Amino acid sequence: MKLSIIAYGDPVLRKKATAIEPAEYPHIQSLVDDMFDTMYAARGVGLAAPQVGLSMRLFIIDATPFDDDEPDLANFKKVFINAQILEENGEEWAFNEGCLSIPDIREDVYRKSTIKISYYDEHWKHHEETYKGMAARIIQHEYDHIEGKLFTDKLSPLRKRLIEKKLNDISKGIVDVEYKMKFPAQKKGR
Ligand code: NI
Repeated sequence: MKLSIIAYGDPVLRKKATAIEPAEYPHIQSLVDDMFDTMYAARGVGLAAPQVGLSMRLFIIDATPFDDDEPDLANFKKVFINAQILEENGEEWAFNEGCLSIPDIREDVYRKSTIKISYYDEHWKHHEETYKGMAARIIQHEYDHIEGKLFTDKLSPLRKRLIEKKLNDISKGIVDVEYKMKFPAQKKGR
């Protein structure tokens, strides 16, 4: 089932999400399935629970669309629960990022190249892994979501000023988007 994606400006995107206890969410697989349906319909490569209105430390990734450039990413489809980035290392590099909650805006964002992360998968199996390149990049972007951060926070003051009006418009629903969204500042009944 496809869920609505929460647009820029909603406070849920700014909250530090809380850890999930297995006992509280025995049916986590159905939420994970819904999140994948939602992400694929919007042609995203990652989606975090706050983006569907749930302030939980859960995000999903399918980096397969990048496997032309990085063959390792074929079948890179993963669920990250209660993730903690343990280390970030290496040179910062820029990539033109976008976000399903911020449609129509893409900006160069600098991030470190390598991360070490601890997380549980959807079967509550614990993992501690190191990622680099595009896999690390997507994880860092989604991890920011469960920390209440957005890629636009990382832009220079000038870039932020230049996109300010567009961001305001997005929060009001003034944007062309082909997937279902919830806009915080949109009047009820529209
Ligand atoms: Ni995003």
